[in-house]
Amino acid sequence: MTPIVLVTGASSGIGEALCRECVAKGWKAIGIARSRDRLLALQAELGQGKFYPVVCDVTDATAVLSASEELVKVGLIPTIFFLNAGIAGEECEEDPSHFDLAKHRQIMDVNYFGALTWVMAWEAVCKNNGGATFVATSSVNAFWAPPK
Ligand SMILES: NC(=O)c1ccc[n+]([C@@H]2O[C@H](COP(=O)([O-])OP(=O)(O)OC[C@H]3O[C@@H](n4cnc5c(N)ncnc54)[C@H](OP(=O)(O)O)[C@@H]3O)[C@@H](O)[C@H]2O)c1
Repeated sequence: MTPIVLVTGASSGIGEALCRECVAKGWKAIGIARSRDRLLALQAELGQGKFYPVVCDVTDATAVLSASEELVKVGLIPTIFFLNAGIAGEECEEDPSHFDLAKHRQIMDVNYFGALTWVMAWEAVCKNNGGATFVATSSVNAFWAPPK
């Protein structure tokens, strides 16, 4: 059976590259992100029936649950999840003159809870489907914190 993978953060960078790689292997990829246009462009490139775009903000648990339910309804049940959506680089840099708690909340909402919500949404379905692999993109910043 053709493996189905779900990739969050599929509209650019590592997630987009992962979708290309998976489809090149003959797998089906479900791509999650907020940027509809970029997801549709990727679908045009990779092909309908190979790449399934899903517009969803990973910080919105209700949206994640409802997108997941829709996928189950149409029989798209992944066995691999690349939980990769995240904000990184300059977007995460601190202003040394002003501590901004909102920035920390946003990073945790996207990079941490935005990954765990998918585990919650799919746990029962995957157990009934014989299991699944969940992979999360981390960062060297988990081990080494740059000055900002
Ligand atoms: N590139 C690096 O050097 C590097 C280093 C360390 C760690 N990482 C980690 O690797 C992952 C991917 O990074 P990247 O470099 O490929 O970044 P990127 O090109 O900026 O891509 C980030 C992806 O996450 C999606 N995203 C962001 N917020 C989202 C939200 N609220 N809901 C749904 N999707 C959201 C973006 O899509 P939309 O904006 O369309 O929603 C985009 O597809 C991140 O978790 C990042 O922390 C990257």
